[in-house]
Amino acid sequence: MNAHVVYATITGNNEDVADIIVSALKAASVTVKKTEISQTEVDELEQTDIAIVVPYTYDNGSLPDEGLDFFDDLAHADLEGVTYGVAGSGDIYYRSDFGLAVPKFEAQFSKTNAKKGAQGIKINLRPNDADALVLNSFVAEIIKNAQH
Ligand SMILES: Cc1cc2nc3c(=O)[nH]c(=O)nc-3n(C[C@H](O)[C@H](O)[C@H](O)COP(=O)(O)O)c2cc1C
Repeated sequence: MNAHVVYATITGNNEDVADIIVSALKAASVTVKKTEISQTEVDELEQTDIAIVVPYTYDNGSLPDEGLDFFDDLAHADLEGVTYGVAGSGDIYYRSDFGLAVPKFEAQFSKTNAKKGAQGIKINLRPNDADALVLNSFVAEIIKNAQH
């Protein structure tokens, strides 16, 4: 099984989230490719079994600027046969805007014929040990759903 993990980060928290996800996938013998969002074409996801996006959230719940092309292209992709998940770090200080990039990417994936592998995860700032457990379960559920 193959997975592609696409992350966006400014200060590193979302790369930490991506790295936990990558480790969990590798521990389950999944072959993983990890790329930064501005360096990634949506077409690349057509060749994978599992696609996971890890975005930060910025001003007033907005998407990563450097990920806007990827976000727009995602709406037009046909990802039949791909199982997806979205997990991202934001900051609970922003209350109702907390982690809004996560549901926004889930909404885009829902237009692609891809299968939702697990409910989106919002992490507060840098992932801690408890977050790592949640992310491990998230990955396990995605793998299980990708097998059926
Ligand atoms: C100017 C600014 C605006 C932000 N706006 C939001 C926001 O609306 N919602 C949110 O959840 N986090 C917001 N954050 C917090 C970041 O999403 C959070 O620090 C995240 O962990 C950064 O991820 P990164 O380390 O991968 O860049 C904001 C941070 C900054 C500096």
